[in-house]
Amino acid sequence: MADKTSTDQKPLREKTSEDFAKYFQTTFQPPSLKDARRRRREDIEVHYDFAISEDMQQVGIGKKFFIRTYGCQMNEHDTEVMAGILEGMGYEATTEMEAADVILLNTCAIRENAENKVFGEIGHLKPLKLEKPDLLIGICGCMSQEEAVVNRILKKHPFIDMIFGTHNIHRLPEIIKGALFGKEMVVEVWSKEGDIIENLPKVRKGNIKAWVNIMYGCDKFCTYCIVPYTRGKERSRLPEDIIEEVRHLARNGYQEITLLGQNVNAYGKDFTDLDYRFGDLMDDLHKIDIPRIRFTTSHPRDFDDHLIDVLAQGGNLMEHIHLPVQSGNTDILKIMGRKYSREQYLELVRKMKERIPDVTFSTDIIVGFPNETEEQFEDTLSIMREVEYDAAYTFIYSPRDGTPAARMEDNVSMEVKKERLQRLNKLVNDIALKKNKVFEGQIVDVLVEGESKKNADVLSGYTRKNKVVNFKGPKSAIGNIVPVRIKEAKTWTLDGELVTETTEVT
Ligand code: SAH
Ligand code: SF4
Ligand code: F3S
Repeated sequence: MADKTSTDQKPLREKTSEDFAKYFQTTFQPPSLKDARRRRREDIEVHYDFAISEDMQQVGIGKKFFIRTYGCQMNEHDTEVMAGILEGMGYEATTEMEAADVILLNTCAIRENAENKVFGEIGHLKPLKLEKPDLLIGICGCMSQEEAVVNRILKKHPFIDMIFGTHNIHRLPEIIKGALFGKEMVVEVWSKEGDIIENLPKVRKGNIKAWVNIMYGCDKFCTYCIVPYTRGKERSRLPEDIIEEVRHLARNGYQEITLLGQNVNAYGKDFTDLDYRFGDLMDDLHKIDIPRIRFTTSHPRDFDDHLIDVLAQGGNLMEHIHLPVQSGNTDILKIMGRKYSREQYLELVRKMKERIPDVTFSTDIIVGFPNETEEQFEDTLSIMREVEYDAAYTFIYSPRDGTPAARMEDNVSMEVKKERLQRLNKLVNDIALKKNKVFEGQIVDVLVEGESKKNADVLSGYTRKNKVVNFKGPKSAIGNIVPVRIKEAKTWTLDGELVTETTEVT
């Protein structure tokens, strides 16, 4: 790294080809899943000194960037950070890929079909690159952390200019510098997580709702899951930094924040000299004057009593909890490495239903885990009925290279898996409709986000319990929380009418 730093300090125009050669030696850093699996003891440092070097602050002036985001909210938020960095370099956002000078694909590795979509898109980009040789194309996000993906891009898609991972997005200016001024593909993927960089710029999508990272990484290592390899070990942001960010968002008129982490309930477990956990954080955030606070995702294992008590206060803490169960069968849960049984999960749900007024749940489910029997699958159907989830995101198990489950033999055919998914989805929909019907005639508070996608005359927003409501109303309602009377419940949406003094009188 020493060489690179000394080269970096020279102004760009004074650099020799040797300087660039050195640069590339140090930036050809492909990933290793084996290294990514290791969990080390050393402390994570927090930095507040991010800056874009002077020579890169104007390279984007008159140029445009386009970022396509796949995957979860974590990626959505990383895209906001990359947009912030690119704007700091003078680039301007565009919604048209063809108009862009820099295209980034922020990728997801969670299932094979997520990856296939990205490879399809990479194929589409080739003609664009041929037409516009100065275009820079970068692949980032979780797929970049996988060796097999990087090797495939190096071999089959050499027109890609940059590959960088989830731990070094703050290096975007240097990565772009390498791609702009060098001839080789820049590959910079750190297998080991980096430190926490606090002061990264962000361009948030919208001014009503905002994402706030509270922690990075995952140490759970569920046997099917690639995330602990692509996102590194669990690192929590300091409470004061999170609280300050939320206060700042509240001052700027944001109505809702969603706290992000792969496993938010593990927040603070990594602090060595501070006894402060997710319940404490929620309790502190509860006191901030922002109307709505949500969080995702909760792992059932770390959901402690203190957190339940804090959530029971309600107010700006929403009574909707996304609590992935994955399977309703204890033996499958055990092989998945989830570290809870069906009974423990149900006990947690029971406790929350008892203590958090009117709480609702959504979940994630994997069907067709290796060797799942019909009876084990039926346990998943029965837990659906027992908990009565308002929504469930259901997936067919997809083997991920490098994970323990990918090495398991599997005697369940794809046909059976698809048939199980259909049966599960039918039940999910039936329950969702039944739960939605309860709202007919009720008045709910809706945070109005904008016009409905299908009809510009109709406004659309979310209830406290995260249900989509469509209703007719004035555009001035956008960005506000308004009362809506529900007229008709559908499976995934509620139709209603705005409650005004006139509608109440009539
Ligand atoms: N951290 C979250 C989940 C993040 S991934 C949690 O543990 O709850 C989102 C969802 O993708 C998971 O809940 C799981 O249902 C699904 N998923 C993860 N790996 C998968 C795989 N290999 N095949 C199919 N679905 C998977
Ligand atoms: Fe994956 Fe499990 Fe971590 Fe969720 S908790 S990200 S499913 S390893
Ligand atoms: Fe996908 Fe990475 Fe999120 S694998 S689900 S983008 S953490």
